[in-house]
Amino acid sequence: MQEGPYLVDRLWPDPVTGVSLEEALAGFTLPDPPADRPLVAINMVTGIDGRAQLRGTAEGLGSRADRQLMRLYRSHFDAVGSGGGTLRATGIWLRVGDRLAARRAADGRAPNPTGVVIAGSDPIPTDASWFDGDEPRILFVGARSPVRSAPRGTELIRSPLVLPDPGWVLGELRERGISSMLLEGGPRINAAFLAADLIDEIYWSIGAHLLGTDALRMIAPIPGGSPFADEPRRGRLVSVLRHEDELFLRYRFTDGDGAAA
Ligand SMILES: NC(=O)c1ccc[n+]([C@@H]2O[C@H](COP(=O)([O-])OP(=O)(O)OC[C@H]3O[C@@H](n4cnc5c(N)ncnc54)[C@H](OP(=O)(O)O)[C@@H]3O)[C@@H](O)[C@H]2O)c1
Repeated sequence: MQEGPYLVDRLWPDPVTGVSLEEALAGFTLPDPPADRPLVAINMVTGIDGRAQLRGTAEGLGSRADRQLMRLYRSHFDAVGSGGGTLRATGIWLRVGDRLAARRAADGRAPNPTGVVIAGSDPIPTDASWFDGDEPRILFVGARSPVRSAPRGTELIRSPLVLPDPGWVLGELRERGISSMLLEGGPRINAAFLAADLIDEIYWSIGAHLLGTDALRMIAPIPGGSPFADEPRRGRLVSVLRHEDELFLRYRFTDGDGAAA
């Protein structure tokens, strides 16, 4: 299906009105990854009150323009990942769509980023749509996971720990030639990456709605307490786009070598 064009205003930097999402992102580049691990960006959509779930999934929080933006972001990354909870909630579909896949292939890249799921101890629905595509996939599981084998085309990597350590996951990805990963939630795996200070960028879509529920936020509370409770991890605002009543924000938390932004 042909998507868009969705018109956006770039509010900052270099303000411009009424351009297509693709034009607004034409100059999009990723910073170099730190020397010792892949670059990590998180992409999430919430309402104004920060809730990242509506009726148990993210469905309905963002517009069609937001979904197209998500595919555009993905197209810049070597890998696109999710936590096991998101795979269980939605089946997930981490591809870029035919047009962007063709563009990646023309640039000599794999048509779709490598799919990554990071699970712990709970069962994984191996009939989920995530396992259907022909892009490479890596399924990380914890030491006590009941998963013994993965469907065809998926590499299964077992962590020595009950929950895969984010730094260890990134090391395994780097060994496989992956230098950037877009992590698309959910809130608990995001929290694990924040706890380890392994978030370089955040792409945050804010839908113009209020929920007032106790649904998870973009980043769940870090179990055992946050290392940033008294000294917040500060970022820099990189860009702001507006589509109708929706805002698309990009923040950077580290620069190049992994140092604070
Ligand atoms: N609004 C958005 O943009 C957005 C994006 C994504 C997801 N969501 C929503 O968020 C919900 C799912 O989020 P979630 O937070 O429950 O699940 P999640 O973050 O997707 O996955 C959490 C699971 O990851 C596994 N895990 C592996 N290593 C871990 C580590 N080091 N620390 C913590 N967990 C680790 C654990 O699996 P085990 O259970 O196997 O131990 C844990 O339960 C769904 O409703 C989904 O639709 C919203």
